[in-house]
Amino acid sequence: MNRRSKITPHRKAVTWRWRRWIEPLAREVWTGRLEAMGGVTWAAIEKPGRSRILLEAYAQERSTVSSLQQRHGGSVRAVQAREWMTAKMGKPIRIGTRLEIVEDRARRGATGLPRLVIPHGMAFGSGEHATTRMLLQALARQKDLDRMRVLDLGTGSGILALAARRFGGKKIVATDFDAEAIRTARQNEALNFLTPLIRWQCADVKKLRATARYDLIIANLFSGILIEAAPQISRALSQGGALWLSGILRSQQQEVAVAYRRCGLRLVKTTTRGKWVMQQWATSPG
Ligand SMILES: C[S@@+](CC[C@H](N)C(=O)[O-])C[C@H]1O[C@@H](n2cnc3c(N)ncnc32)[C@H](O)[C@@H]1O
Repeated sequence: MNRRSKITPHRKAVTWRWRRWIEPLAREVWTGRLEAMGGVTWAAIEKPGRSRILLEAYAQERSTVSSLQQRHGGSVRAVQAREWMTAKMGKPIRIGTRLEIVEDRARRGATGLPRLVIPHGMAFGSGEHATTRMLLQALARQKDLDRMRVLDLGTGSGILALAARRFGGKKIVATDFDAEAIRTARQNEALNFLTPLIRWQCADVKKLRATARYDLIIANLFSGILIEAAPQISRALSQGGALWLSGILRSQQQEVAVAYRRCGLRLVKTTTRGKWVMQQWATSPG
């Protein structure tokens, strides 16, 4: 995945948000408009049952979002800065008020928040990529992780499984088909925790066998793999469980949605960051 750098670096705890609802047909126009602005981080949020899309743009300067409001309406307010607005390569990454991710132990964090040390190494997953960040944010919001069986598919550096553990998770399995990634992830657990807890497994998601069921499955994988492995992934979900898929390109979200609907799941929420989409699915009927 290519790294994109339309994220605005700053250290303030507060940033400025502009919000308005848009029609789906206007989406591409808006995307181009916000991309062209510079100094703005934006997100398009869709919810099933809502015909319109909620557009959010964040900027460090109030004047930037005020100009959007003057020209296009909507509302402006000061909000707590979120980690995907403040990140910059090599800088600590904040996940709201719950976690800070740093590249090396010696680097001082800005906040004194609980932290994870994830060295930039061979395996994907430093926390900077939008696909990882959307899952980290969702994990930070998830309640009762300590009571959930969690499965992280395509764990890479182990960042999501380790974040789940930091947020209280006690039963966590993480898999990757790359043996080097599993080695790195295991080392990263040792770097961050005194005792091992996560079950690291070298396995191909396409061959996943539902010998156990999970209350929460997270997967940051390319769409093609998510589609191919949809039956296996869906079968591993417990009744009432949640499945969060990231790594989906906007242009491929419909195909992914078709594959998971076919498996009987219900799309609960779609979050977009730039060209990347995260889909959150549930088993139970709405
Ligand atoms: C985009 S990275 C995600 C890493 C990390 N979970 C994150 O969110 O930053 C995808 C990971 O999935 C692994 N992967 C790709 N295809 C896979 C497959 N078929 N089975 C298991 N793992 C796979 C890759 O080796 C890579 O580590």
